[in-house]
This record gives sequence, C-alpha cells and structure tokens, in this order.
Amino acid sequence: MRRNKITVVGSGNVGATCAHWAASKELGDIVLIDVVEGVPQGKALDLMESAPIEGYDCNILGTNSYEDTRDSDIIVITAGIARKPGMSRDDLLSTNAGIVASCSGQAAKYSPGAYIIVVTNPLDIMAHVALKASGFPPHRVLGMAGVLDSARFRTFIALELGISFEDVSAFVLGGHGDDMVPLVRYSYAGGIPIEKLIPADRISAMVERTRKGGAEIVNHLKTGSAFYAPGASVIQMAEAILKDKKRILPVAAYLQGEYGEEGMFLGVPAIVGGGGVEKILEVDLTADEKAQLAKSAESVRSLLKVVNL
Ligand code: NAI
Ligand code: 2OP
Repeated sequence: MRRNKITVVGSGNVGATCAHWAASKELGDIVLIDVVEGVPQGKALDLMESAPIEGYDCNILGTNSYEDTRDSDIIVITAGIARKPGMSRDDLLSTNAGIVASCSGQAAKYSPGAYIIVVTNPLDIMAHVALKASGFPPHRVLGMAGVLDSARFRTFIALELGISFEDVSAFVLGGHGDDMVPLVRYSYAGGIPIEKLIPADRISAMVERTRKGGAEIVNHLKTGSAFYAPGASVIQMAEAILKDKKRILPVAAYLQGEYGEEGMFLGVPAIVGGGGVEKILEVDLTADEKAQLAKSAESVRSLLKVVNL
C-alpha cells in the first residue's frame, strides 16, 4: 500500500500553510520544495515535529531538488512573488509566468500522472502557463481561486446574518480579479436565497468586499497576502481529487466553449473528483451576469496576450 504524495512548490506563506492543512487532514506524504535553501527543510521539519502532538502520520520532506518530488499525485504551485500594498495581481504577471513555467515543467517531468493545482497570481493566467509547461490534459490542471473567493463571500454572509458558516453556500464565477462575479442568485443560507434575508444594499456591499477580499488582507498585513484561507482552499480541492469526492467546487478550469469562452482558464462550478475536473457545470445566467462574466473573461484574455498565450 502506498500513501498519497503531495508536492507543494514554493514554501512561503501559502505553500507552508497548504502543507499544514494537508498534514492535519493526513492526506498523504508531503514534499515542500523551494529555490531558497533551508526554508523548505526547516518548515518541513517543524511540521513533522508537530506530528506527535497532533497525531498525524505522514512524512514531510523539505528539499530543493525535484528528484524528491517523483511520483507525486498532486502538485501545488505556489512559487512566485506575492502582492504587496498598491500592487495589483496583474503587476505580478511576467515574473510569475517565468517562475510557474519552470516549476510546472520540472514537477510534471517527475510526476507525469499528477494533478496540478495552481495558486500563483495572476491565477487564471498562471494556470494557463502551467497547462502549457506541463503538457498535461486540461482536466488535470486546476486553478484555485473560486473556493477562496466564495469562502470570503460565505464568511461575510454568515457574519451579516449571525448564523453558522456551515449553513451558507455561495459561489463566485469568473477570473480571480477585481471583476470576479459573486453570484447572489445562487447564494443560500440554510437553503433560503440570501436575497430573501438581506437587504439589497447590504448584499451589494458584501459583493464589493468579496471582490476586494485579497486587497483587504494585504492592506492589513502590509508585507504579503492571505495564506490561511488560500491554503485551506487548495487542500479542499486536493482532498476532493485524492478521495474522489466528486465535490461541486468553483475552480479555474480550462474552458472549451463553456459559458461562451474558449481556450482560457476561468472560474466556473465543476465536479471535482478522482478525474480532476470531471465536468464543468453550466448554470443559467441573466443578461447582467453574462455581461459581468464576459468582462471578467476579457480581463483574462488581455493578460494572456501579454504572455503570448
Ligand atoms: P511567499 O512569498 O510567501 O512565497 C513564495 C515562495 O515561492 C517563496 O518561498 C519563494 O522563495 C518561492 N519561489 C520563488 N521562485 C521560486 C522557484 N522558481 N521555485 C520554487 N520556489 C520559488 O508568497 P505566498 O504568500 O506564499 O504567495 C504565493 C503566490 O500565491 C503569490 O503569487 C500570491 O499572489 C498567490 N496567491 C494566490 C491566491 C489565489 O487565490 N489564487 C491566494 C493567495 C496567494
Ligand atoms: C488573495 O485573493 C492575493 O489573490 C490573493 O488573497
């Protein structure tokens, strides 16, 4: 019997937090890799030394060599530079494209059957870069953004209503940028549409806060961006794949005609299981929602041109 193996490329805030959540869920053995020597080794050892306290049984290895990532089931790409105050996600484009192409290509070479979950920003473009660099089929390359963005929206709804976070479902369509599309009509609290429970102006404020959710954290932290909820989001996706859970999750998936878009990654609801993105679900949209999604897709398309994709 072989344990699952999860490689996390980039051992910074998001990478290390992914390893933390994966270990706490005992999802498999974990490899943390980074260009900086010592950081993945130190963080991996520190996490391993938490095992006797937390009671998880998995090996956690820190390394600078892709050889150690061989035969991974999941490869999480967090390598890159993070957004600083005043910097948009899109400013990160060229630097991170080079980093993500190199990391995905090398990791894919050692784990040709793996599923890649991309985190690095700008997310929808980096997922595309990883698809090309890995040579993997589209169903095995997923971008993480929608789980995080919808978790933020769900948090704000639960806080507004003073109810359990567990009872709120919501999802966010589109690219991981300021023009993402939180879908109010498909958001529920205990099965009740939120429009029946919350005044329209409060909902609009929450939609706006969700769109700026990443920047809100950056403005607090000042030296980096969010990592606890991003790490938890990645590991929810990894768990759905490794346990073939067939969850319906909002993920950045490669569209081939769905929602009227072709040849780009965009956040959409999908069934995520042992086959990665097993099915993209197309829901009815109003004319206004369609227009918002088209605007978000246009932002992604314009950035793809910058990196010649
Ligand atoms: P961080 O700066 O803490 O960590 C990045 C790590 O990548 C560093 O340890 C760095 O040494 C490493 N790295 C750089 N080049 C590398 C290479 N060629 N190979 C291996 N490792 C390399 O940044 P943080 O906070 O972990 O964020 C990582 C990325 O994730 C950023 O691009 C950030 O914007 C993005 N992000 C995306 C989210 C999403 O919803 N998709 C949410 C949160 C962060
Ligand atoms: C976030 O939304 C920075 O994209 C990252 O927190």
